[in-house]
Amino acid sequence: MKAQEIKPGIHWVGAIDWNIRDFHGYITPRGTTYNNFLVMDRKISLVDTVKYEFADVMFERIKRLTNPEKIEVGICNHAEMDHAGSWDKIMRVAKNMTLYTTERGKEGLDKHFDTTGWDIQVVKTGDEIKTGEKTFQFIETPMLHWPDSMMTYIPEDKLLISQDAFGQHWAQAVLFDDRVSQDNLEDAIIDYYANILMPFGNLIKAKIAEIQKLGLEIDMIAPDHGVIWRKNPEKVLNMYLDMANGKAEEGVVIVYDTMWHSTEMMSRGIQDGIVDEGMHVEVLKLRETARSTAIKEFWKYRGILVGTPTLNNLMFPTIAEFLHSLKGLRPSGRIAGAFGSYGWGGGAVSEALNVLKSMKLEVVEPGFELKYRPNEEDYKAGYEFGKLFAQKVREYHRKFE
Ligand code: FEO
Repeated sequence: MKAQEIKPGIHWVGAIDWNIRDFHGYITPRGTTYNNFLVMDRKISLVDTVKYEFADVMFERIKRLTNPEKIEVGICNHAEMDHAGSWDKIMRVAKNMTLYTTERGKEGLDKHFDTTGWDIQVVKTGDEIKTGEKTFQFIETPMLHWPDSMMTYIPEDKLLISQDAFGQHWAQAVLFDDRVSQDNLEDAIIDYYANILMPFGNLIKAKIAEIQKLGLEIDMIAPDHGVIWRKNPEKVLNMYLDMANGKAEEGVVIVYDTMWHSTEMMSRGIQDGIVDEGMHVEVLKLRETARSTAIKEFWKYRGILVGTPTLNNLMFPTIAEFLHSLKGLRPSGRIAGAFGSYGWGGGAVSEALNVLKSMKLEVVEPGFELKYRPNEEDYKAGYEFGKLFAQKVREYHRKFE
């Protein structure tokens, strides 16, 4: 297995996880990569590692370039185990290595490993080390997305190793942004941002502003997942700023589940009303759709309608789980409504509306609910509900233009 040189003397020595489909509960239909980098200088450095079970792959790549015992500098940008999981294996081999990380990074490493005898040096924003020709400058990025997170900048190469930020869960052997489909790449970025970084929009804006203020010249961004940005790093920076500012398409996603198809049938009139208002609509049944995919689609569009039947006076469980996950991601800048059928008591639609309100989203009330199965009159009512909701979405969307 080869290493790949991304800049003179800087080599990707990571792993491609083609098969992972469940990344701690986040469904990853495209797999992922764990990117890390060996820097061949007077002192040899390793920036991040790979997930534990891929350590052998990383060692094989490193051995094409050098004896791993010669690594003297380790940089741990992030203590989550998909990147830090192999430090103990490295430590056993590279006995003269000093490991640089943030204070919270050290805390994380101390909790995950027996770090007795490890030479760990704590660094903060503004600190730098030289390894010969190259300089490593550290930029703390707390809560992007863990408290310990930091980035490493190598000014001689105008290279920002950005850790999780600007990444994508996408297994790719070609490594670079200019060698993949741009549509798929954009979809992968939105997926990753929506499911991991959505709560941190304000932090992202502040951190990008800080990087700009530092005056760093960047001609390559190398995240720890997915493709490396060598052709168009501005693309991902602009996408992040847009998403942090709440950019969305003027459209509606209907996320629903159904028991005996009544809530599903209700959605048809609603869809027709939305389309006749000239608006795009996506429809996702949750039992057929990964939760993380539904979250991605939610994030793409300005409006969401949640369809839920009532089960034991409550929302259908898949819908409750979806809204629970969404709430944790602290979404903003979206307008929401709810619909669904019930058999006798009802309750799911009002519960869904209350959860949406608790997220401080713009909520359209009342919801649309009916008993048992929709008839032709109910179709018409759903059509009007869909038209009205689309109009509200359009009106709300204007605030962001
Ligand atoms: Fe890819 Fe936060 O680890």
